[in-house]
Amino acid sequence: MAGNNKTVLVVDGWGRGAALIHKYSQSPQVGKLIAVPGNPLMQINSEIPVKIFPHLTTTSIKEIIEICKKEKVDLVDVAQDNAVEAGLADALEEAGTSAIGPSRLAGQIEWDKAWARNFMKKNKIPHPAYKVFTSKKNAKDYIKRAPNKKYFVKATGLVEGKGALPAENKEKALLAISEMSKFGKAGEKFVIEDWLEGEEFSTFAITDGMSFQIIGSAQDHKRLYDADQGPNTGGIGSSTPPLVVTKNIYKQEESIIRKTILGLAKEGRVYKGLLYLGAIVVNKKVYVVEFNARWGSPEAEVLVPGIKNDLFEISMSVVKERLHKSKILTDRKSRIAVTGSTRPGIETKERELFGLENALKIPGITIYGSRVFPKKGKFFVTAGRLFHLVAEGKNIIEVRKKAYQAMSMLFIEGNNLHYRTDIGWRDMERVYQ
Ligand code: GLY
Repeated sequence: MAGNNKTVLVVDGWGRGAALIHKYSQSPQVGKLIAVPGNPLMQINSEIPVKIFPHLTTTSIKEIIEICKKEKVDLVDVAQDNAVEAGLADALEEAGTSAIGPSRLAGQIEWDKAWARNFMKKNKIPHPAYKVFTSKKNAKDYIKRAPNKKYFVKATGLVEGKGALPAENKEKALLAISEMSKFGKAGEKFVIEDWLEGEEFSTFAITDGMSFQIIGSAQDHKRLYDADQGPNTGGIGSSTPPLVVTKNIYKQEESIIRKTILGLAKEGRVYKGLLYLGAIVVNKKVYVVEFNARWGSPEAEVLVPGIKNDLFEISMSVVKERLHKSKILTDRKSRIAVTGSTRPGIETKERELFGLENALKIPGITIYGSRVFPKKGKFFVTAGRLFHLVAEGKNIIEVRKKAYQAMSMLFIEGNNLHYRTDIGWRDMERVYQ
Protein backbone atom coordinates (compact mmCIF):
# COMPACT_ATOMS: atom_id res chain seq x y z
CA MET A 1 0.00 0.00 0.00
CA ALA A 2 1.55 3.29 -1.12
CA GLY A 3 1.81 6.09 1.47
CA ASN A 4 2.00 9.81 0.70
CA ASN A 5 5.74 9.69 0.16
CA LYS A 6 5.95 10.78 -3.49
CA THR A 7 7.39 14.09 -4.66
CA VAL A 8 6.10 15.80 -7.80
CA LEU A 9 7.74 18.75 -9.54
CA VAL A 10 5.61 20.86 -11.92
CA VAL A 11 7.46 22.98 -14.48
CA ASP A 12 5.27 26.06 -14.87
CA GLY A 13 4.81 29.40 -13.17
CA TRP A 14 1.28 30.39 -14.03
CA GLY A 15 -2.37 29.43 -13.54
CA ARG A 16 -2.02 26.17 -15.46
CA GLY A 17 0.77 25.04 -13.12
CA ALA A 18 -1.34 26.14 -10.14
CA ALA A 19 -4.25 23.93 -11.33
CA LEU A 20 -1.86 20.98 -11.74
CA ILE A 21 -0.30 21.53 -8.31
CA HIS A 22 -3.83 21.64 -6.82
CA LYS A 23 -4.74 18.31 -8.49
CA TYR A 24 -1.46 16.57 -7.52
CA SER A 25 -1.99 17.81 -3.93
CA GLN A 26 -5.19 15.71 -3.82
CA SER A 27 -3.29 12.50 -4.63
CA PRO A 28 -3.07 10.19 -1.60
CA GLN A 29 0.39 9.21 -2.83
CA VAL A 30 1.92 12.70 -2.98
CA GLY A 31 3.54 14.20 0.11
CA LYS A 32 5.69 16.98 -1.36
CA LEU A 33 5.19 19.42 -4.22
CA ILE A 34 7.70 21.58 -6.03
CA ALA A 35 7.10 24.11 -8.81
CA VAL A 36 9.70 25.70 -11.08
CA PRO A 37 9.45 28.61 -11.16
CA GLY A 38 6.02 28.32 -9.50
CA ASN A 39 4.19 31.24 -7.96
CA PRO A 40 3.42 32.12 -4.33
CA LEU A 41 -0.36 31.69 -4.66
CA MET A 42 0.02 27.98 -5.49
CA GLN A 43 0.08 27.25 -1.77
CA ILE A 44 -3.49 28.48 -1.14
CA ASN A 45 -5.04 25.45 -2.86
CA SER A 46 -2.70 22.83 -1.44
CA GLU A 47 -2.71 21.31 2.02
CA ILE A 48 0.78 19.95 1.50
CA PRO A 49 3.78 22.27 1.23
CA VAL A 50 4.62 23.70 -2.21
CA LYS A 51 8.24 24.70 -2.62
CA ILE A 52 8.82 27.25 -5.40
CA PHE A 53 11.96 28.39 -7.22
CA PRO A 54 11.10 31.89 -8.53
CA HIS A 55 14.70 32.65 -9.56
CA LEU A 56 14.64 29.79 -12.12
CA THR A 57 12.82 29.53 -15.45
CA THR A 58 11.01 26.66 -17.15
CA THR A 59 14.11 26.08 -19.28
CA SER A 60 16.63 25.95 -16.40
CA ILE A 61 17.36 22.33 -17.32
CA LYS A 62 20.56 21.84 -15.34
CA GLU A 63 19.06 23.31 -12.18
CA ILE A 64 15.83 21.29 -12.52
CA ILE A 65 17.86 18.09 -12.77
CA GLU A 66 19.84 19.10 -9.66
CA ILE A 67 16.58 19.77 -7.75
CA CYS A 68 15.27 16.34 -8.82
CA LYS A 69 18.36 14.66 -7.36
CA LYS A 70 18.43 16.70 -4.16
CA GLU A 71 14.69 16.44 -3.44
CA LYS A 72 14.36 12.84 -4.67
CA VAL A 73 11.64 13.80 -7.16
CA ASP A 74 9.49 10.89 -8.35
CA LEU A 75 7.77 12.67 -11.24
CA VAL A 76 8.24 15.87 -13.23
CA ASP A 77 5.27 17.33 -15.08
CA VAL A 78 6.67 19.33 -18.01
CA ALA A 79 3.75 21.72 -18.44
CA GLN A 80 5.20 24.67 -20.37
CA ASP A 81 5.81 24.82 -24.15
CA ASN A 82 9.31 26.32 -24.05
CA ALA A 83 10.45 23.54 -21.69
CA VAL A 84 9.23 21.00 -24.27
CA GLU A 85 11.11 22.80 -27.03
CA ALA A 86 14.25 22.96 -24.90
CA GLY A 87 14.17 19.16 -24.51
CA LEU A 88 13.53 19.03 -20.76
CA ALA A 89 11.70 15.66 -20.93
CA ASP A 90 14.63 14.17 -22.88
CA ALA A 91 17.18 15.51 -20.38
CA LEU A 92 15.17 14.13 -17.45
CA GLU A 93 14.91 10.72 -19.08
CA GLU A 94 18.67 10.68 -19.56
CA ALA A 95 19.12 11.64 -15.91
CA GLY A 96 16.83 8.79 -14.83
CA THR A 97 13.88 10.91 -13.59
CA SER A 98 10.32 10.05 -14.67
CA ALA A 99 8.67 12.85 -16.63
CA ILE A 100 5.29 13.40 -18.19
CA GLY A 101 5.59 15.68 -21.21
CA PRO A 102 6.64 15.07 -24.79
CA SER A 103 10.20 14.81 -26.04
CA ARG A 104 11.55 17.71 -28.07
CA LEU A 105 10.96 15.72 -31.27
CA ALA A 106 7.35 14.82 -30.47
CA GLY A 107 6.72 18.38 -29.26
CA GLN A 108 7.72 19.77 -32.66
CA ILE A 109 3.99 19.58 -33.37
CA GLU A 110 3.73 22.76 -31.30
CA TRP A 111 7.08 24.54 -31.56
CA ASP A 112 7.25 24.39 -35.36
CA LYS A 113 3.90 25.34 -36.92
CA ALA A 114 5.24 24.79 -40.46
CA TRP A 115 6.39 21.26 -39.62
CA ALA A 116 3.02 20.62 -37.97
CA ARG A 117 1.04 21.67 -41.05
CA ASN A 118 3.19 19.42 -43.29
CA PHE A 119 2.64 16.56 -40.81
CA MET A 120 -1.15 17.10 -40.95
CA LYS A 121 -1.10 17.09 -44.74
CA LYS A 122 0.92 13.86 -44.84
CA ASN A 123 -1.42 12.17 -42.35
CA LYS A 124 -4.67 13.40 -43.94
CA ILE A 125 -5.67 15.39 -40.88
CA PRO A 126 -8.15 18.15 -41.86
CA HIS A 127 -6.49 21.58 -41.94
CA PRO A 128 -6.88 24.86 -43.83
CA ALA A 129 -5.01 25.43 -47.11
CA TYR A 130 -1.56 26.85 -46.27
CA LYS A 131 1.83 27.77 -47.66
CA VAL A 132 5.15 28.04 -45.81
CA PHE A 133 7.58 30.92 -46.44
CA THR A 134 11.02 32.01 -45.33
CA SER A 135 11.19 35.00 -47.68
CA LYS A 136 8.94 37.98 -47.00
CA LYS A 137 9.28 39.06 -50.62
CA ASN A 138 8.05 35.68 -51.93
CA ALA A 139 5.20 35.74 -49.41
CA LYS A 140 4.13 39.24 -50.49
CA ASP A 141 4.31 38.27 -54.19
CA TYR A 142 2.12 35.26 -53.36
CA ILE A 143 -0.47 37.41 -51.56
CA LYS A 144 -0.50 40.00 -54.37
CA ARG A 145 -1.44 37.24 -56.83
CA ALA A 146 -3.88 35.52 -54.43
CA PRO A 147 -7.64 36.25 -54.12
CA ASN A 148 -8.67 39.12 -51.85
CA LYS A 149 -9.97 37.10 -48.89
CA LYS A 150 -9.20 36.50 -45.21
CA TYR A 151 -5.91 34.93 -44.13
CA PHE A 152 -3.92 34.08 -41.03
CA VAL A 153 -0.19 34.73 -41.01
CA LYS A 154 1.50 32.59 -38.34
CA ALA A 155 5.04 32.63 -37.01
CA THR A 156 6.35 29.07 -37.01
CA GLY A 157 8.04 29.28 -33.58
CA LEU A 158 6.82 29.84 -30.02
CA VAL A 159 5.70 33.38 -29.14
CA GLU A 160 3.54 32.91 -26.04
CA GLY A 161 0.44 32.11 -28.10
CA LYS A 162 0.56 35.50 -29.85
CA GLY A 163 2.17 34.51 -33.16
CA ALA A 164 -1.00 34.10 -35.26
CA LEU A 165 -1.94 37.38 -36.94
CA PRO A 166 -5.44 37.65 -38.39
CA ALA A 167 -5.62 39.43 -41.76
CA GLU A 168 -9.12 40.31 -43.00
CA ASN A 169 -7.91 41.13 -46.54
CA LYS A 170 -4.83 41.16 -48.78
CA GLU A 171 -3.66 44.53 -47.51
CA LYS A 172 -3.67 43.33 -43.90
CA ALA A 173 -1.95 40.08 -44.94
CA LEU A 174 0.89 42.15 -46.47
CA LEU A 175 1.21 44.06 -43.19
CA ALA A 176 1.13 40.85 -41.14
CA ILE A 177 3.96 39.44 -43.26
CA SER A 178 6.10 42.52 -42.42
CA GLU A 179 5.18 42.09 -38.75
CA MET A 180 6.72 38.61 -38.63
CA SER A 181 10.06 40.37 -37.96
CA LYS A 182 8.86 41.38 -34.48
CA PHE A 183 8.92 37.69 -33.46
CA GLY A 184 12.67 37.40 -34.11
CA LYS A 185 13.84 33.87 -34.85
CA ALA A 186 10.31 32.46 -34.26
CA GLY A 187 9.03 34.52 -37.20
CA GLU A 188 11.86 33.85 -39.69
CA LYS A 189 9.74 31.05 -41.13
CA PHE A 190 5.98 31.60 -41.29
CA VAL A 191 2.80 30.06 -42.60
CA ILE A 192 0.05 31.81 -44.59
CA GLU A 193 -3.25 30.00 -44.17
CA ASP A 194 -6.81 30.45 -45.31
CA TRP A 195 -8.97 31.91 -42.53
CA LEU A 196 -11.66 29.40 -41.64
CA GLU A 197 -14.98 30.85 -40.55
CA GLY A 198 -16.53 28.78 -37.73
CA GLU A 199 -16.61 28.10 -33.99
CA GLU A 200 -13.38 27.29 -32.18
CA PHE A 201 -12.87 24.97 -29.24
CA SER A 202 -10.01 22.95 -27.82
CA THR A 203 -9.82 19.33 -26.72
CA PHE A 204 -7.25 17.80 -24.38
CA ALA A 205 -6.10 14.18 -24.54
CA ILE A 206 -3.54 12.34 -22.49
CA THR A 207 -1.45 9.71 -24.24
CA ASP A 208 1.42 7.33 -23.65
CA GLY A 209 2.24 7.30 -27.35
CA MET A 210 -0.07 4.45 -28.33
CA SER A 211 -3.31 4.64 -26.38
CA PHE A 212 -5.01 7.91 -25.42
CA GLN A 213 -7.96 9.23 -23.47
CA ILE A 214 -9.80 12.48 -24.02
CA ILE A 215 -10.09 14.40 -20.76
CA GLY A 216 -12.39 17.15 -21.97
CA SER A 217 -12.94 20.21 -24.12
CA ALA A 218 -13.11 23.91 -23.41
CA GLN A 219 -13.54 27.23 -25.16
CA ASP A 220 -10.88 29.87 -24.75
CA HIS A 221 -11.69 33.59 -25.00
CA LYS A 222 -8.69 35.19 -26.63
CA ARG A 223 -9.67 38.78 -27.36
CA LEU A 224 -9.03 41.30 -24.61
CA TYR A 225 -12.49 42.90 -24.55
CA ASP A 226 -16.13 41.75 -24.41
CA ALA A 227 -17.85 40.63 -27.61
CA ASP A 228 -14.50 39.33 -28.91
CA GLN A 229 -13.11 42.82 -29.54
CA GLY A 230 -9.56 44.10 -29.14
CA PRO A 231 -6.19 42.42 -29.53
CA ASN A 232 -5.51 38.73 -29.00
CA THR A 233 -4.21 37.68 -25.59
CA GLY A 234 -2.83 34.33 -24.41
CA GLY A 235 -6.41 33.64 -23.20
CA ILE A 236 -8.52 35.80 -20.87
CA GLY A 237 -11.27 33.34 -19.93
CA SER A 238 -12.52 29.84 -20.65
CA SER A 239 -15.58 27.66 -20.25
CA THR A 240 -16.36 23.95 -20.19
CA PRO A 241 -18.04 21.85 -21.50
CA PRO A 242 -18.58 23.59 -24.85
CA LEU A 243 -21.97 22.65 -26.29
CA VAL A 244 -20.57 22.84 -29.83
CA VAL A 245 -18.97 19.43 -29.13
CA THR A 246 -21.81 17.14 -30.17
CA LYS A 247 -21.41 13.35 -30.59
CA ASN A 248 -20.55 13.83 -34.23
CA ILE A 249 -17.88 16.46 -33.43
CA TYR A 250 -16.48 14.24 -30.66
CA LYS A 251 -16.05 11.36 -33.12
CA GLN A 252 -14.17 13.59 -35.52
CA GLU A 253 -11.83 14.94 -32.84
CA GLU A 254 -11.17 11.41 -31.63
CA SER A 255 -10.20 10.36 -35.14
CA ILE A 256 -7.89 13.40 -35.49
CA ILE A 257 -6.17 12.64 -32.19
CA ARG A 258 -5.75 8.96 -33.11
CA LYS A 259 -4.22 9.79 -36.50
CA THR A 260 -1.90 12.32 -34.86
CA ILE A 261 -0.57 10.05 -32.13
CA LEU A 262 -0.11 7.09 -34.48
CA GLY A 263 1.41 9.33 -37.18
CA LEU A 264 3.93 10.68 -34.69
CA ALA A 265 4.78 7.20 -33.39
CA LYS A 266 5.35 5.98 -36.98
CA GLU A 267 8.03 8.66 -37.33
CA GLY A 268 9.71 7.58 -34.09
CA ARG A 269 8.28 10.60 -32.23
CA VAL A 270 6.42 8.72 -29.49
CA TYR A 271 4.28 11.34 -27.77
CA LYS A 272 3.93 10.98 -24.01
CA GLY A 273 1.91 13.61 -22.24
CA LEU A 274 -0.91 16.01 -22.83
CA LEU A 275 -1.92 16.79 -26.41
CA TYR A 276 -3.93 19.96 -27.06
CA LEU A 277 -6.04 20.00 -30.19
CA GLY A 278 -7.07 23.53 -31.14
CA ALA A 279 -10.01 22.99 -33.48
CA ILE A 280 -12.62 24.84 -35.49
CA VAL A 281 -16.00 23.57 -36.68
CA VAL A 282 -16.93 24.66 -40.19
CA ASN A 283 -20.22 23.29 -41.56
CA LYS A 284 -20.16 20.46 -38.98
CA LYS A 285 -16.63 19.43 -40.00
CA VAL A 286 -13.66 19.71 -37.62
CA TYR A 287 -10.39 21.26 -38.85
CA VAL A 288 -7.17 21.64 -36.88
CA VAL A 289 -6.24 25.22 -36.03
CA GLU A 290 -3.12 24.09 -34.16
CA PHE A 291 -1.71 21.43 -31.90
CA ASN A 292 0.00 22.28 -28.65
CA ALA A 293 2.22 19.99 -26.61
CA ARG A 294 0.76 20.87 -23.19
CA TRP A 295 -2.39 22.02 -21.41
CA GLY A 296 -3.80 25.38 -22.51
CA SER A 297 -4.24 28.22 -20.05
CA PRO A 298 -6.89 29.17 -18.94
CA GLU A 299 -8.32 25.87 -20.26
CA ALA A 300 -6.38 23.74 -17.74
CA GLU A 301 -7.89 25.86 -14.98
CA VAL A 302 -11.42 24.65 -15.88
CA LEU A 303 -10.60 21.06 -16.91
CA VAL A 304 -7.98 19.82 -14.44
CA PRO A 305 -10.21 20.40 -11.36
CA GLY A 306 -12.83 18.08 -12.89
CA ILE A 307 -10.49 15.05 -13.04
CA LYS A 308 -11.65 12.50 -10.46
CA ASN A 309 -8.64 10.17 -10.71
CA ASP A 310 -5.38 10.38 -8.80
CA LEU A 311 -3.31 12.51 -11.22
CA PHE A 312 -0.03 11.04 -9.96
CA GLU A 313 -1.23 7.56 -10.85
CA ILE A 314 -2.46 8.64 -14.30
CA SER A 315 0.82 10.44 -15.05
CA MET A 316 2.85 7.40 -13.97
CA SER A 317 0.74 5.19 -16.22
CA VAL A 318 1.77 7.44 -19.11
CA VAL A 319 5.43 7.21 -18.11
CA LYS A 320 5.18 3.41 -17.89
CA GLU A 321 3.16 3.12 -21.13
CA ARG A 322 0.19 1.45 -19.50
CA LEU A 323 -2.45 4.12 -19.92
CA HIS A 324 -4.77 1.55 -21.53
CA LYS A 325 -5.18 0.03 -18.05
CA SER A 326 -6.61 3.26 -16.59
CA LYS A 327 -9.93 4.95 -17.14
CA ILE A 328 -10.01 8.69 -16.65
CA LEU A 329 -13.17 9.91 -15.01
CA THR A 330 -14.36 13.50 -14.74
CA ASP A 331 -17.05 15.10 -12.56
CA ARG A 332 -18.89 16.54 -15.61
CA LYS A 333 -19.50 19.87 -13.87
CA SER A 334 -19.69 23.17 -15.73
CA ARG A 335 -16.86 25.58 -15.07
CA ILE A 336 -15.75 28.97 -16.25
CA ALA A 337 -12.50 30.78 -15.60
CA VAL A 338 -12.54 34.58 -15.57
CA THR A 339 -9.04 35.95 -15.92
CA GLY A 340 -8.19 39.10 -13.98
CA SER A 341 -5.53 41.37 -15.43
CA THR A 342 -4.41 44.92 -14.85
CA ARG A 343 -6.05 47.53 -17.05
CA PRO A 344 -4.44 47.43 -20.50
CA GLY A 345 -1.75 50.03 -21.05
CA ILE A 346 -1.06 51.04 -17.44
CA GLU A 347 2.51 51.12 -16.19
CA THR A 348 3.87 48.08 -14.36
CA LYS A 349 4.10 48.68 -10.63
CA GLU A 350 3.08 46.93 -7.45
CA ARG A 351 -0.58 47.48 -6.54
CA GLU A 352 -2.73 45.96 -3.81
CA LEU A 353 -5.41 43.42 -4.70
CA PHE A 354 -8.40 43.59 -2.34
CA GLY A 355 -11.16 41.07 -1.64
CA LEU A 356 -9.41 37.79 -2.48
CA GLU A 357 -10.27 36.09 0.79
CA ASN A 358 -13.93 37.18 0.57
CA ALA A 359 -14.25 35.88 -2.98
CA LEU A 360 -12.82 32.53 -1.90
CA LYS A 361 -15.55 32.17 0.74
CA ILE A 362 -18.18 31.67 -1.98
CA PRO A 363 -18.73 27.90 -2.34
CA GLY A 364 -17.47 26.55 -5.67
CA ILE A 365 -14.88 29.31 -6.23
CA THR A 366 -11.17 28.57 -6.70
CA ILE A 367 -8.45 31.06 -7.63
CA TYR A 368 -5.32 30.07 -9.52
CA GLY A 369 -2.67 32.77 -9.35
CA SER A 370 -0.24 33.91 -11.97
CA ARG A 371 1.14 37.20 -10.69
CA VAL A 372 -0.31 37.62 -7.20
CA PHE A 373 2.13 38.01 -4.32
CA PRO A 374 1.11 37.63 -0.68
CA LYS A 375 2.96 40.01 1.65
CA LYS A 376 2.31 40.62 5.36
CA GLY A 377 -1.28 39.33 5.19
CA LYS A 378 -2.11 41.36 2.04
CA PHE A 379 -2.01 40.54 -1.68
CA PHE A 380 -0.18 42.51 -4.36
CA VAL A 381 -0.07 42.31 -8.16
CA THR A 382 2.18 43.67 -10.88
CA ALA A 383 0.92 43.58 -14.48
CA GLY A 384 -0.48 41.26 -17.16
CA ARG A 385 -2.65 38.19 -16.47
CA LEU A 386 -2.81 38.11 -12.69
CA PHE A 387 -5.14 35.26 -11.72
CA HIS A 388 -7.87 32.96 -13.01
CA LEU A 389 -11.04 32.81 -10.92
CA VAL A 390 -12.82 29.50 -11.51
CA ALA A 391 -16.47 28.85 -10.67
CA GLU A 392 -18.00 25.39 -10.77
CA GLY A 393 -21.64 24.33 -10.78
CA LYS A 394 -24.29 22.43 -12.64
CA ASN A 395 -24.63 24.63 -15.73
CA ILE A 396 -23.36 27.72 -17.44
CA ILE A 397 -26.03 29.98 -15.91
CA GLU A 398 -25.11 28.98 -12.36
CA VAL A 399 -21.35 29.22 -12.86
CA ARG A 400 -21.51 32.63 -14.53
CA LYS A 401 -23.60 33.96 -11.65
CA LYS A 402 -21.11 32.65 -9.08
CA ALA A 403 -18.02 33.73 -10.98
CA TYR A 404 -19.19 37.30 -11.48
CA GLN A 405 -20.45 37.57 -7.90
CA ALA A 406 -16.93 36.62 -6.78
CA MET A 407 -15.25 38.92 -9.32
CA SER A 408 -17.35 41.85 -8.07
CA MET A 409 -15.69 41.45 -4.66
CA LEU A 410 -12.22 41.96 -6.12
CA PHE A 411 -10.61 45.31 -6.65
CA ILE A 412 -7.15 46.55 -7.57
CA GLU A 413 -5.74 49.74 -6.09
CA GLY A 414 -6.48 52.71 -8.38
CA ASN A 415 -9.46 50.92 -10.00
CA ASN A 416 -7.10 48.85 -12.11
CA LEU A 417 -8.74 45.44 -12.44
CA HIS A 418 -9.72 44.40 -15.97
CA TYR A 419 -11.72 41.31 -16.93
CA ARG A 420 -14.25 40.26 -19.53
CA THR A 421 -17.88 40.12 -18.44
CA ASP A 422 -19.09 37.73 -21.16
CA ILE A 423 -17.15 34.50 -20.54
CA GLY A 424 -19.25 31.55 -21.75
CA TRP A 425 -21.42 33.75 -24.01
CA ARG A 426 -21.75 31.16 -26.78
CA ASP A 427 -23.36 28.61 -24.50
CA MET A 428 -25.48 31.23 -22.71
CA GLU A 429 -27.06 31.86 -26.10
CA ARG A 430 -27.55 28.12 -26.64
CA VAL A 431 -29.14 27.29 -23.29
CA TYR A 432 -31.76 30.00 -23.73
CA GLN A 433 -32.64 29.00 -27.29
N1 GLY B 1 -5.14 29.49 -24.14
C1 GLY B 1 -4.37 29.17 -25.26
C2 GLY B 1 -3.09 28.51 -24.99
O1 GLY B 1 -2.80 28.13 -23.87
O2 GLY B 1 -2.30 28.38 -25.92
